Amino acid sequence: MPVARLSDLDERGRAVVDVGGTPVALVRVAGELFALQDTCPHRGGPLSQGDVEGYLLHCPLHAWPFDVRSGVCPSNAGARIRIYAVRVVGEEIQVAPISGSVSAP
Ligand code: FES
Repeated sequence: MPVARLSDLDERGRAVVDVGGTPVALVRVAGELFALQDTCPHRGGPLSQGDVEGYLLHCPLHAWPFDVRSGVCPSNAGARIRIYAVRVVGEEIQVAPISGSVSAP
């Protein structure tokens, strides 16, 4: 589904959009656009405001890292976030769910 346009991304290549009532973070990493749930499964931190290290996005509240490609949190077994497939058509950003499990240990 279309959720935003490339011009909606901020200077860091990020935006938060609504997908079926869920806030979803668009995050550009290494020149590629990823989409993932914006709410951290630990205590609800806004992942869209986290720092990136490689493909790991660190939650701004307690620094749990999440791999933007898989949603897996490598430092907390069992913790993962929902990720979405991203497609850019012209200026339009489209997303679709590709994983349904969201969990915290
Ligand atoms: S709220 Fe994200 S690590 Fe605690």
